[in-house]
Amino acid sequence: MAAVGVFDSGVGGLSVLAEIRKLAPELPVVYLADQAWSPYGERSLAAVRSRSVAITEMLLGRGCDLIVVACNSASAAALHHLRNTFPDNRFVGMEPAVKPAASQTERGVIGVLATAATFQGELYASVVDRHANGTEIVEQACPGLADAIERLGPEHAETLSLLDRYMQPLTAAGIDTLVLGCTHYPFLMQAIERLAGPSIRVIDPAPAVARQTIRMLGDGWRPPAESLFLTTGAPGTFGVQLESLLGLIAQPEQVRVEMSHGTEIVVITGDLTAQPVDAIVNAANNRLQHGGGVAGAIVRAGGRVIQEESNSWVQEHGALEPAGAAVTTAGSLPADYVIHVAGPIFTEGQDNEGLLRGAVAAALDATAGVGAKSVAFPAISAGIYGYPIEEATAVLADEVVRWAGRHPGVLQEVRLVGYNAAAAAHMQNGLNGARAGGN
Ligand code: APR
Repeated sequence: MAAVGVFDSGVGGLSVLAEIRKLAPELPVVYLADQAWSPYGERSLAAVRSRSVAITEMLLGRGCDLIVVACNSASAAALHHLRNTFPDNRFVGMEPAVKPAASQTERGVIGVLATAATFQGELYASVVDRHANGTEIVEQACPGLADAIERLGPEHAETLSLLDRYMQPLTAAGIDTLVLGCTHYPFLMQAIERLAGPSIRVIDPAPAVARQTIRMLGDGWRPPAESLFLTTGAPGTFGVQLESLLGLIAQPEQVRVEMSHGTEIVVITGDLTAQPVDAIVNAANNRLQHGGGVAGAIVRAGGRVIQEESNSWVQEHGALEPAGAAVTTAGSLPADYVIHVAGPIFTEGQDNEGLLRGAVAAALDATAGVGAKSVAFPAISAGIYGYPIEEATAVLADEVVRWAGRHPGVLQEVRLVGYNAAAAAHMQNGLNGARAGGN
């Protein structure tokens, strides 16, 4: 049964959910409120991005096949990244409604209320670039406002006085159109319209996002199925919020969203040698003779110096052990280091998995050993060495997840690089499987 997954840092996405329910009351929705992590708007883009990946994985694991990022901060930080990381899934995100505002304004001055994170993101910059068309935009960041709606509710005096403070510069600037750039703010609609007065048109993007969601979903779903409300915070509180904001009686379930211990593990489609990371891993042979496959590509792109340093390494240390790693410079590649490991030549009757795990762990140990913070892996052993790619990538991803668990926060990012879309899909399946395995 197909379902739509909707997530937000808290209750803001419920304003989008309300619109979805108007259009398709029986559509099963899994709503996740990341209340243990709220507010997103004041966190770094990188942190919100990692968090959005982990939540998306959970929602996909719950059978959702279309994800609505019902949070402007998360859309700003992660929408593009989510589409790259999960190429087989569909996403709808929140884009500040600058386009309709710019086409509707008469005086040519529009206001945008949003979080600091939203204004910092590239998404906002590109929307303004594409659609502002000479319109003057007055940006108003609203620190604490989403949090106040979350903790105190939209009618609380403190929430309303914050709103009042943030509205004043906008009305003073003579705007005639106001964009609500955070999904929490539609819950303040009455107060906003009162403060704005009749001459300012207020644009809530939620109805358009709901329409887009239903359009993308097509007719691939069938009622009846239960909607599900999840929160990383307190389920009792979320239940009360659901009732007061949407009039909905539900029994929310508490869930934990595990991050990979501070290490972001992502799947990338493309050329390993082009990755802008501190280190790349080479799928080498134990003599470090880099002729074919990814090894040849590394030397061709990075220069002979990589082969020369490899030769010196072998002269000094002898052949590379199965669970060993050799580190060389990376010549003219974007990376600083090449970490050479030798995966197993796939052979019946030998412990292929154990050998591959040893090579992966050796590469990660060596990465940490040189102080590198980010590293990119190819599908070691899955080429010339004949390890079936779906098995090799599953072992690779699982060992990376385990290693990250044993070494919390040591690396910031591990990239699993598939040379083409099919290889990347295997990497992603492997990663999903590794995480679902609870490692
Ligand atoms: N970027 C990303 N992935 C790549 C690239 C690249 N530029 N080039 C090749 N690959 C992929 C292959 O498609 C394969 O899925 O890397 C994976 C590993 O393939 P191989 O390079 O053949 O590595 P492996 O199977 O471990 O064989 C190692 O091959 O090149 C020799 O010296 C190496 O003898 C050793 C053997």
